[in-house]
Amino acid sequence: MNFDNFSSIFIANWKLNGDIQFIKEYYQKLIPSNNNCVVVCPPNIFLHQLKTNNSNLFSGAQDVSIYNEGAYTGEISAAMLNDNNIKFCIVGHSERRQHFNESNKAVNLKSINLIKNKIIPVVCIGETLEEKEKKITKDVLLKQINESIPAISNNQNTIIAYEPIWAIGTGLTPTLDDIDEVHSYIRNIDKKFNKFKILYGGSVKSSNSADINQIKNVDGCLIGGASLKVNEFNTIIS
Ligand code: PGA
Repeated sequence: MNFDNFSSIFIANWKLNGDIQFIKEYYQKLIPSNNNCVVVCPPNIFLHQLKTNNSNLFSGAQDVSIYNEGAYTGEISAAMLNDNNIKFCIVGHSERRQHFNESNKAVNLKSINLIKNKIIPVVCIGETLEEKEKKITKDVLLKQINESIPAISNNQNTIIAYEPIWAIGTGLTPTLDDIDEVHSYIRNIDKKFNKFKILYGGSVKSSNSADINQIKNVDGCLIGGASLKVNEFNTIIS
């Protein structure tokens, strides 16, 4: 995908929330902005209920199988997502890493399957509070990037989302300088990442999103809780 037409990318991660009535009301009120790319990621069963326009409003999945087909009860493959016009898929979210033992290797495999099926993996990385306090954030991110992002990834087919785990759903965020420093670090890990879109996630809301988005190395946000309130989300993406 050519992201150059967008000023920023905003991804709503609804997690395990929403129902058909909620979606109806949400899309009556949602105001996608022309300059920005907006992606809404509901639980898979609702993907068909969402409105998309393939220009600045897209639907995304929250996860995908590492398998392509076969006897894997309960799984959904990248090809199936593609068949249903899904253009983005979150992979390696810390909740999946924590509750479902998703490893860097699995994230790498999932990303390869997605890219081969023309879906953009949004690869999530981030440190725990303990790792931050031990001042090993950069080492943690380096390992996650090296192991999770496949060799076939480039700035047109993959997005990186930096989500400090201690900032997710807690109301806490790093300082703007800290976000800038980490994003700049990620961008410079390898020449190949220079032009990648790097999103920030973790307690983004309408009151802090403008400041976060102004940071030079921030190309948009991944939003959890605040994306469930459509007025709040409208402010963030406007
Ligand atoms: P939050 O979640 O915005 O509720 O902190 C972000 C995420 O988990 O992607």
